[in-house]
Amino acid sequence: MSTYRFPIDFVWGAATASYQIEGAWNEDGKGESIWDRFSHTPGKTANGDTGDVACDHYHLYRDDVALMHNLGLKAYRFSVSWPRVLPHGRGPINLRGLDFYDRLVDALLDANIVPFLTLYHWDLPQALQEEGGWTNRDICPTFADYAALMVKRLGDRVKHWATFNEPRVVMDNGHLNGDHAPGLKDPPTAYQVGHHLMVAHGMAVQAIRAMNPNLHIGVVLNQWPSDPASDSPEDVAAAELVWQQNETLFLDTVFKAHYPPSRWELMGEDVPRIYDGDLALISQRLDFLGINYYSRSLVSAQGIFDRVPGSEYTEMGWEVHPPGLRRLLNKVNNDYNLPPIFITENGAAFKDVVMSDGAIHDERRLEYIRQHLIQVYLAMQDGVDVRGYFAWSLLDNFEWAHGYTKRFGIVRVDYETQERTVKDSGQWYSRVIESNTVSES
Ligand code: FCB
Repeated sequence: MSTYRFPIDFVWGAATASYQIEGAWNEDGKGESIWDRFSHTPGKTANGDTGDVACDHYHLYRDDVALMHNLGLKAYRFSVSWPRVLPHGRGPINLRGLDFYDRLVDALLDANIVPFLTLYHWDLPQALQEEGGWTNRDICPTFADYAALMVKRLGDRVKHWATFNEPRVVMDNGHLNGDHAPGLKDPPTAYQVGHHLMVAHGMAVQAIRAMNPNLHIGVVLNQWPSDPASDSPEDVAAAELVWQQNETLFLDTVFKAHYPPSRWELMGEDVPRIYDGDLALISQRLDFLGINYYSRSLVSAQGIFDRVPGSEYTEMGWEVHPPGLRRLLNKVNNDYNLPPIFITENGAAFKDVVMSDGAIHDERRLEYIRQHLIQVYLAMQDGVDVRGYFAWSLLDNFEWAHGYTKRFGIVRVDYETQERTVKDSGQWYSRVIESNTVSES
């Protein structure tokens, strides 16, 4: 049996996002977000589910931090709800909202848990959406002002700052296929949004660094590596093209200061409008890169596989393919000059069964995390500088358009009672953290 021992300072964490767990959607002066508006619109989410209450983390955060402490987590990745602190997106500050994050951070630090803060995990103030949201370039400096506000309040205690979570999903799901807020479906708009997200990222990096040069700043990108179905030159070329067209937009702009040519070509007439200096702004030095990995694409000259014969699939319909994570890490490490990497999300939705004694034997989730951690370890042996891993997610939560139908937590949430129960995967992860090792079985 192999045992993999991680470096002593490896950052073991778990991740969440504001709209998915906080609830309290209209309490203590919080403004409406685009996800409040979207989920309150009939037909947009499974069962009409909303984040109105979610895991009620806004009220239960102390218990949740105690839970993290019991699990032995070294770090916690969470996001700030922009409309909770700036109900209109700019202008008057909602002090009660800011106080919430202040208390959360203090509770984390008291529990010896390092906070990793994400500024934007998709819950834009609805007031800014009324002005065009991410389609309107004016939002970029507004985002940087919001970043500066948060640094002013928390920069003395929070060292790790991510600007955006998965800008690709904001662009594609929010503005191209419309299954996320704000539900637009327009290619040129979506591509312009992609560009504005990166300009906003660049302005925020500047603003954060200007306030405090010692902070660690990064961005979180979701990457699906694409594997060729065979060694044939046709399949290999098809897989590389899918990667170049779909996966390199944010990597290339942020780390190479250019738009990937095959992506540019793909956008055709719909290419975004770019100002002089934008690419320099977008590509400023970062202190870390967050990578979210869930699955890969298998590609042949005929196209992308819907189902890979023989593979296991999660409740999301995503193929379970741990070796893809190692290959992805090596590929980005070879193709880009990267800062240290954190795996900022990785995890799986499976149907959980609660036993009569309350236990949740989520063997498949446990195995998913185990196998991915082994691949992270192997990538580190290959020479990739990975500093930490965050399980998605600490808690079962509101999975966007899927509502509460998908459970990703290493901790179960009973949405009727708000009771939390650590699943087997969570107990196992806790032992991994304590021993700093992952064993084959
Ligand atoms: C990622 C999101 C996260 C969660 C997981 C399953 O794309 O960042 O909020 O929904 O997928």
